[in-house]
Amino acid sequence: MTNIVKQQYPRMTKLRSVTTDSHQSLDDKVMSFKPFDSNENYIKFLNFQYRLMAKVAPLYQSKQLISVFNDLTSRCRLDYLKQDLIDFKQSISTGENNELNALSLPAAIGWLYVIEGSKLGAAVLAKQVGKLDLSDEFGARFLAGPGNGRGNAWREFMKSVESVNLSEQEEETMLEGALNAFNFAHTCIDNGLEQA
Ligand code: HEM
Repeated sequence: MTNIVKQQYPRMTKLRSVTTDSHQSLDDKVMSFKPFDSNENYIKFLNFQYRLMAKVAPLYQSKQLISVFNDLTSRCRLDYLKQDLIDFKQSISTGENNELNALSLPAAIGWLYVIEGSKLGAAVLAKQVGKLDLSDEFGARFLAGPGNGRGNAWREFMKSVESVNLSEQEEETMLEGALNAFNFAHTCIDNGLEQA
């Protein structure tokens, strides 16, 4: 982030700085199992993403979050992921999963930051799927960007995060939410690799 961006988006800057280490180690873990070296590895990666997305999907229907992020429902990638898994004839676990509905607004914003931010990383990963002959029509639908461009979607997201009225305490809760979301992502990947 440039200094101007830091000044314009102070809350985003905090979110980023408290989660940098966790993001880096997650990124290292994902890349260490070489998701684009074979279909088998890629399917592990899809299952990891699915465990994570299934957990956060209810947030994309949350009324309190939609009041802040107007286009929220259209941002959810869960259906694309399901379709990617179906492409590989993988079974999809279903079931009620509404735990995150109990989060306060600030904590939910922290969680959402992690998932929306992961789409920036997805841009990098999407460049590699060609190696496995995957695309936004087969196996890698969930990595595709939105119609109006990832940059726009991310800027709109950042502006909305900055616009919410939060006390200092609530901002702390938001940062904890982001850290918890990264911890959950670590758990998803650790469990997935053990099962593999
Ligand atoms: C191998 C996997 C990954 C790679 C290569 C990767 C890479 C990246 C890259 C290049 C960015 C953009 C940084 C920038 O604009 O300067 C980014 C941002 C981000 N990624 Fe990842 N990422 C990966 C996985 C993930 C995962 C699994 C999550 C969360 C579950 C995640 C969460 C984020 C967040 C929250 C941001 C936004 C950071 C900000 O505030 O600017 N990433 N990632």
